[in-house]
Amino acid sequence: MRVDSSLGLCFIGFGNVGQGLARILVRKERELAERWGFAFRTVAVVTRTRGAAVSRDGEGLSLAELLARVERGEPVGNEHISPVEAALLPQTDIVLDVTPTNLITGEPGLSLTRAALGSGRSVVSSNKGPVSLALAELKELARARGAHYRFEGSVMSGTPSLNLALESLAGCDVREVQGIVNGTTNYILTRMEEGFEYADALREAQEKGYAEADPAGDVDGWDAAVKAQILAAAVLGFPLPLDAVERTGIAAISRADVEAAAKRGKRIKLLAKVARTPDGVAASVAPAEIPLTHPLASVGGATNALTFTTDTLRDVTIIGPGAGREETGQALLSDMLAIAAAERNSARFSIKAG
Ligand code: HSE
Repeated sequence: MRVDSSLGLCFIGFGNVGQGLARILVRKERELAERWGFAFRTVAVVTRTRGAAVSRDGEGLSLAELLARVERGEPVGNEHISPVEAALLPQTDIVLDVTPTNLITGEPGLSLTRAALGSGRSVVSSNKGPVSLALAELKELARARGAHYRFEGSVMSGTPSLNLALESLAGCDVREVQGIVNGTTNYILTRMEEGFEYADALREAQEKGYAEADPAGDVDGWDAAVKAQILAAAVLGFPLPLDAVERTGIAAISRADVEAAAKRGKRIKLLAKVARTPDGVAASVAPAEIPLTHPLASVGGATNALTFTTDTLRDVTIIGPGAGREETGQALLSDMLAIAAAERNSARFSIKAG
């Protein structure tokens, strides 16, 4: 990877999250270069339904122009190139996998990630499918090829969760993680308490870019379950299959249930929990009635919260956005900045070592 010039970015997917990241990059391009030493060129943008664009002259695509095209309902470009071909273009340094999550096959993100890491390119992703299905394999592939695989955006969007536990809490033994990890269901439960019907609240969550491409993934608890699985593997170091996460969603919860809980001084929240046990790790997702005095009761809308129970610091809680276009774009940005910093440091180390 080049460290003394701009990094070549290849977007695979240009939906809610890809556009959210692009907006941040357009707005902050100068600040990123001046304050964070991060300069980039957009090598390619490949989409499933909006065509593809490739910078053939090496100058880089204008993300502002691509966003304007999408806004006008036009394709981003008319190139015929597959996601893997774009990822492997010689100018690509970092592949941004912002394709939709498929928890069964992991595709198209999984093949793309394997190909990119296998070629020594780094991958930054908000896609939960490949992390769920192949984290150990992808981490090993990245290590073997001197590449980076980072996926902060797969849990709590840009609010630090994985990198908080793995980097800021480095050296702590995290024994349990518990909280609210799905923005869509928390938004729906909050709106139902305000008097909205379930279907209207879900539609709003979709309009705001919180929901998965198939919102059943949210309301049936799959999204929270896969986040619990990712926390178990990445933070507690204990991989477990997705079907080992006990899972109940919110589909059976009505407005009457939410109102009845409120009358009892309670609030219904979809809680995810992973905890060490004598045999390994137990993971679950289920709605729970919690008292209004409970710290999680005030976490409303698409906001998420996680409490990490550790040995040295006891409980550490983080609260922040759990879903959204720019909110998730921020996760990808922070992962890219971490890669750029790591590459600069390793270049310095090798200069000293040499
Ligand atoms: N559908 C997810 C949610 C998106 O609502 O939390 C963020 O992972």
